[in-house]
Amino acid sequence: MATVVVGVTGGVAAFKAPIVVREFQRAGHDVYVAATRASLNFVGRSTWEGITSRPVAVDIAGEGRAEHVELARIADLIIVVPATANTLARLAGGFADDMVSLTVLACAAPVVVAPAMHSNMWLAPATQENVRLLRERGVHIIEPDAGALGSGDSGVGRLPDPVLIARRALAVLQQHRDAQTPLPLAGRTVVVTAGGTREPIDPVRFLGNRSSGRQGLAIAAAAARAGARVRAITANVDDSVANTLPDGVEVTRVGTALQMRDATMEQVRGADALIMAAAVADFRPEQAQTSKMKKDPTTQDAPTLRLVRNPDILAQVGHSSIRPPLVIGFAAETGTDEEIIAFGADKATRKGADYIAVNRVGDRVGFGNVHNDIRLLDASGALVDRYAGSKDDIAAGLIAQLATFLANLKR
Ligand code: C5P
Repeated sequence: MATVVVGVTGGVAAFKAPIVVREFQRAGHDVYVAATRASLNFVGRSTWEGITSRPVAVDIAGEGRAEHVELARIADLIIVVPATANTLARLAGGFADDMVSLTVLACAAPVVVAPAMHSNMWLAPATQENVRLLRERGVHIIEPDAGALGSGDSGVGRLPDPVLIARRALAVLQQHRDAQTPLPLAGRTVVVTAGGTREPIDPVRFLGNRSSGRQGLAIAAAAARAGARVRAITANVDDSVANTLPDGVEVTRVGTALQMRDATMEQVRGADALIMAAAVADFRPEQAQTSKMKKDPTTQDAPTLRLVRNPDILAQVGHSSIRPPLVIGFAAETGTDEEIIAFGADKATRKGADYIAVNRVGDRVGFGNVHNDIRLLDASGALVDRYAGSKDDIAAGLIAQLATFLANLKR
């Protein structure tokens, strides 16, 4: 809930201002009205007092003297609707001899102004200059619409739909609040691996897996939205998926497990957290052929692939001196609930991870563009939380949890 001060000035469009007030009230906000004397010819005191159940602020002198400062002090948002050409000039000039301009001048809250007037007045260079000046000072201007005007003429200058005006003003309020709330991962660096590694057999073939990288990238995006500096290491992620990352995420592209190991060891330096969401191949062909393997037309023989183990990146980081304070591994498992939880807990311990996010995979579950269901376990196997839903929802839940873990760790 917020306190919204609605400043009403003397144009014929003032008759729409009560609807703006109603919309704020319907959204649960507390509304005070400040009106210029001229505006009372359009909408009278009794209307305002009836709608808001409190006196309308008009007079500065005498008993109203403290009130203007009070309104400016309590306002979380001021909206001037409608704003006449005269009021725009007064706001631009810093006047303070009516309750509306004075409240705006005295207030540190965001200001929204919705001008409405005859098109000649709107287009007049003086008005346009005043609007430019106000914008430059951070005032949010809701541009007038074109259409029928109070004078009977038509042109630009009409007050937009009051419901839309209220919505725009509330968006400004929300933006302002978001900007003031420190993001939970501000100042943190998070490394996220995503996608599936491919281990070359020859120049055209590889051993791969079905990971699309969607879950890992959703986590990287959620971390960035939470204010973290994000280093994403992606293996074979389709551009259509990779392009969903917000600007500012640093991306290192790799192909194989060995490349991912090298990139991860480099990127985790100085990081606060590593989230190892990539599906890393456990084995690779011992020797990738330099030319395409051919079948011998004279026999039915097939070659035998000799595989060797890939390094376990998570375990390598988890047990190293460059281990970030928080390490989360992923485990894609098949089996019953009890089995996948047991596998997950064992994995966390072996790999030196603090937590392990276990998801069940199989036909149409886990991989690709589908919903997911993840259990977050600590290294003792205890269930910390469970996230189900879209990969974005899961990422948001996991990142909120990560922010809590980091906040609770001693720096
Ligand atoms: O042992 P498993 O492959 O099921 O473990 C999965 C977790 O370990 C994931 O976080 C994955 O990114 C990581 N991993 C790894 N290096 C490997 C294999 C898996 O870092 N070679």
